[in-house]
Amino acid sequence: MSVSSTQQIPETGAIPRHVAIIMDGNGRWAKKRMLPRVAGHAKGVDAVRATVETCARAGVQCLTLFAFSSENWRRPVEEVSVLMRLFLTALEKEVALLRKNGIRLRVIGDLSAFDAKLQEMIARGEADTAHCKGMTLVVAANYGGRWDILNATRQMLAVRPDLAANPQAIAESDLAPYLALADQPEPDLFIRTGGEHRVSNFLLWQLAYTEFYFTDCFWPDFGAEELNKAFESFTRRERRFGRTSEQLQSGQVSTHPGSVEVLSS
Ligand code: IPE
Ligand code: IPE
Ligand code: MG
Repeated sequence: MSVSSTQQIPETGAIPRHVAIIMDGNGRWAKKRMLPRVAGHAKGVDAVRATVETCARAGVQCLTLFAFSSENWRRPVEEVSVLMRLFLTALEKEVALLRKNGIRLRVIGDLSAFDAKLQEMIARGEADTAHCKGMTLVVAANYGGRWDILNATRQMLAVRPDLAANPQAIAESDLAPYLALADQPEPDLFIRTGGEHRVSNFLLWQLAYTEFYFTDCFWPDFGAEELNKAFESFTRRERRFGRTSEQLQSGQVSTHPGSVEVLSS
């Protein structure tokens, strides 16, 4: 189990242990070039490769990429179909390379909605890289932050039906093990390309204390240079986790006192 940033102050460093990215702007990248939207998705695969490589080299422990949201089914059926094909092709072509570089693949989301062939390739990709000890690459597919929390709640209650009768007894630590990324540190750095400033139902629970970085760069143009800008921005952040800046500077460690008297003025 990873450290919960709301229960314990996590150890942090200059390089984010976990980077989570919303890869947005493929359609607009294509439109700017008078190309069909799907050309942007195809080009986006190159940006995925470059990002995986740069993160692995930099020593990132976990990289989570939002590939398809639980709301993306609302898109035209042809576009959804191309996205599925690109995912399948990427699994067929890239897993061997991931394995060669010691990168472990994991896919999170409600995979039951995908066709059998895609589900099989996902399972194979995960199995083929399960032994890898380098970076973990997490692909979020048919993923939604609300789905994750609901799914975790259902699983928790299936294992602990006693909690349903005693909701006051439920602690964060009861639910946390059932969340999709329970075995990874919470994201230190969130990046969204494409200029929008929103979370779009990504890792709602896990982003509690994550540093946010937004760039106007469209996803197909993203790569090492853009990623390094995000890393530089990250190193300039002061992560306070609820404390004051003065406490951090004095190195004073303060724990939850339990109860505090109200000072009379
Ligand atoms: C992100 O790019 C890819 C997916 C959501 C699958 P978009 O397709 O959302 O690109 P824009 O936002 O329309 O430019
Ligand atoms: C978020 O992008 C989902 C992925 C990148 C997979 P969207 O383009 O779907 O987000 P909205 O609809 O603009 O919020
Ligand atoms: Mg978009």
